[in-house]
Amino acid sequence: MVDATVGMGGHAEALLEATPLATCLLGLDADAEAIARAGARLARFGGRARLEHASFRRLAEVAAAASVERAVAVLMDLGVSSWQIESAGRGLSFQTSEPLDMRLDPFSGDTAERLLNRLPEADLARIIAEYGDEPHARRIARAIVRRRPLRSTDDLVAAVRAGVPRAAWPKRLHVATRTFQAVRMAVNDEPGALRQALPQAAALLAPGARLGVISFHSGEDRIVKLTFRSLTADGPYAVVEPSPLQPGDDEVRANARARSAKLRVLERVA
Ligand SMILES: C[S@@+](CC[C@H](N)C(=O)[O-])C[C@H]1O[C@@H](n2cnc3c(N)ncnc32)[C@H](O)[C@@H]1O
Repeated sequence: MVDATVGMGGHAEALLEATPLATCLLGLDADAEAIARAGARLARFGGRARLEHASFRRLAEVAAAASVERAVAVLMDLGVSSWQIESAGRGLSFQTSEPLDMRLDPFSGDTAERLLNRLPEADLARIIAEYGDEPHARRIARAIVRRRPLRSTDDLVAAVRAGVPRAAWPKRLHVATRTFQAVRMAVNDEPGALRQALPQAAALLAPGARLGVISFHSGEDRIVKLTFRSLTADGPYAVVEPSPLQPGDDEVRANARARSAKLRVLERVA
């Protein structure tokens, strides 16, 4: 099995518990701290669990290096975990004042600070609208450009506050939630990585095996839907449920963070 977003290893642990001893799991994560946490949680499975610090952009290469030719299941649980948002120093939270980094892998790519201080206003507006579903994206982009250079998460929060009229501040969300999500997705090129990874994940499936992708964002769900559609048109795949599976009321009551999750499943036909 492959868990391409192993995180703290919760799904990986459940998968290993549910499968026979001969089934092994390869877990990837772009965040080295996640790999360390998953390693501690999965230690009791010994050689059944193998973990690699890598982006799922490189899924095919990482699987080949681990001698995984075919998988009985591939799972992707997109986005970030709440501990990553809350952990100090990453700049992912609007609750504390920190440098604007936001990279899941601090050795790869530009920081949020570079992106926010460099991109043209129109590009910022597009990112905030598209990745954040933020109705005030243009005003926020204008406020960011006016307040440059931005150095800390506080500076970004202040720009969002200045951009969104007070009467339009959301009631149940922090006013900067959508903008922080959008900037994080752009810094890590999360949609680009997903587009690259999905065909690689599908190619790993053994006949009868399934790829499950959980997304929390309408743009990502659209990428999964369209990529699955083109894979089924061109190859030996079938979409298992035409509409995505979503948590029921009981699950949402038990785990409010699952509220916006959508699971799509692709099967390699036997
Ligand atoms: C929602 S969490 C997964 C939680 C996990 N299912 C668990 O049970 O703990 C998403 C994970 O995907 C990782 N991630 C995000 N983009 C990635 C990428 N391009 N390649 C690999 N991992 C990535 C994040 O670092 C994070 O740990």
